Amino acid sequence: MKFNQDFIEQVRDANNVVDIIGQYTELKGRGHQFMGLCPFPDHAEKSPSFSVSDSKQVYHCFGCKKSGNVYTFLQEHSGLSFTDAVEYLARRANIPLPETSEDNKERTARSTYFRINKYAASYFHRLLKTLPDTHIAKKYLIQRGLTEEVVDEMKIGYAGDNWSDLYDLFREKNVPLEEAERLGLIKPKKNGYFDLFHHRLIFPILSTQEDVVGFGGRVLDKEQKPKYLNSPESPIFHKGRTFYGLNFAAKAIRQHDRVVIVEGYMDQIALYSAGIKNVVATLGTALTEDHARVIQKYTSQVVLMFDGDFAGMNAAERSLIPMFAQGLCPLAVFLPESLDPDDYVKKYGAENLQNKINQAQELFILMINDWLKDSKFTANEKLVFMEKVAPYLNVISDRSLKDLYIKEVATRLSVDAKWVVRSLEDGTPKPVSTARATVSEQKPAVPVVDPNEPTQWKLKGAPKEELYLLGVVLNSPESLTKVIEMGVGPKFSSESVKKLLSLVIDKYRQNPSDFDKLAPLVVSRIKDPEELTGLFKFWSLDGAEDEAMKTTLSCIKRVEARHLRRQSEIIAGQLQNGVEGTSLEKLEQIMNIHKNRIQLNRPVKGEP
Ligand code: GTP
Ligand code: MN
Repeated sequence: MKFNQDFIEQVRDANNVVDIIGQYTELKGRGHQFMGLCPFPDHAEKSPSFSVSDSKQVYHCFGCKKSGNVYTFLQEHSGLSFTDAVEYLARRANIPLPETSEDNKERTARSTYFRINKYAASYFHRLLKTLPDTHIAKKYLIQRGLTEEVVDEMKIGYAGDNWSDLYDLFREKNVPLEEAERLGLIKPKKNGYFDLFHHRLIFPILSTQEDVVGFGGRVLDKEQKPKYLNSPESPIFHKGRTFYGLNFAAKAIRQHDRVVIVEGYMDQIALYSAGIKNVVATLGTALTEDHARVIQKYTSQVVLMFDGDFAGMNAAERSLIPMFAQGLCPLAVFLPESLDPDDYVKKYGAENLQNKINQAQELFILMINDWLKDSKFTANEKLVFMEKVAPYLNVISDRSLKDLYIKEVATRLSVDAKWVVRSLEDGTPKPVSTARATVSEQKPAVPVVDPNEPTQWKLKGAPKEELYLLGVVLNSPESLTKVIEMGVGPKFSSESVKKLLSLVIDKYRQNPSDFDKLAPLVVSRIKDPEELTGLFKFWSLDGAEDEAMKTTLSCIKRVEARHLRRQSEIIAGQLQNGVEGTSLEKLEQIMNIHKNRIQLNRPVKGEP
């Protein structure tokens, strides 16, 4: 046992069971007693029989008879181990974890880890430098505009195309293999080990103390998957609080009192080497509160830079909560033409990009604009909109900023600020309409502690086709990859399905070998188990591989068809109502959509 009894009790008393369970089910209460629908997924009930006592700090379900305290809840409901539950709640209550002898061991191991990573980094770098100019890696550097100076400054390297270059070297030089394995550099197989990175361009990730904490490796050959492979989490590498390039950028960030955050390694390098030096990149994961905490040590002015496509907007929306929670109010730049920052500097130059950065606008305002762009400001639309903004407003820790934004929202909706405040206090307002397919169905605002903690979504009202496709991608990495490649994401009309899909894609990118964990993850994020039926329809496709791919393609087609149908309906509606743009333009748009629909109806190769 890792924690002593006093600590366990201290942590338990610092967390209110009502708050914890309130994250999973809506609790209504009088005095010390709260009631709600049972949050346990195996007990789907329609009328509340689940009670939580504020004074006793326990819960009991009169239906399924489960009862316990905050620890048993996290164990039984969320599947945490007891130790994880204690740790989670200690963090939530800001209680520092006691040092154990395990921790001490880890700490002394750190210097060994750094030494191994440094050794690997210089090996990769040296290898790249010795390659002939005709080598694909060298050619790739030129193609991407990575000069010799950049390669040297960033210590970019190359992992060879034998599967054991690094392992052989480690063995020869008596590098401790167990530690190298813990860092993910080598992986065990039947007799010995093999290298994690194989025929990839290597970006060492340095801490601000210039220790190599991990690596990112990019493919050189399009066929190879995944495109980017990161070192796994390790005692010295935590993706959720690491930025690529912070060691290079720290000085400039302090100088400018501003940081530009981009999403990719290549984007960081492109901007930095074009002279925009106050730039860092996340490592392919969403921004977290830990990221925000790290950045805050350098500046409070954050400019987030996103691709101007669906994925960009989606990423932007997800970044805002952790930023707000840490008292940051980020600005954002959305790049045009679906360019990423690297493409943009190459096409338009650093000066134009710098102008864009200087003109960055508040992300929250941009999001509001986007959400309201097609609104006719009916009462129902206002309620729906409040439901969307509530989680953001609720999490703002800076009182004055919150007031400002409440006023802003009130003005946009032509309502009194008091109405907004009351809506927030009453919990999220429920829109009256039943047609909620396009409504964001994110969980209502709860005291959010960790934005990465599971949010659960409702799938009710989501189109069948979209549910089927979500089920299909959980079948095989091939199906999922197909959906990613074909960029179907933006074509989903259901916000919940869209968010679930982007969660799946994120997790898959973080760790492709954990594909099998994606389905249980999705299930755990769905509010009502009854809603799973649609999802299960094509869940386990037995049969031959090409059969599964056929089903995948036909599901993609159905989602696309539905999307096109909706688009032409929207434009037809606009035509009738005389909304912006000439009729000619609209007609042309409709014709294009029709063309696409006809295209879609042609048989695809591999389909009956
Ligand atoms: P280039 O194609 O090299 O220009 O990269 P990019 O930065 O344009 O790539 P993209 O927009 O596809 O991805 C942005 C960032 O997401 C990358 O820098 C990675 O950190 C991450 N990423 C992209 N693809 C993968 C992947 O397959 N696995 C993982 N783990 N991360 C990825
Ligand atoms: Mn790119």
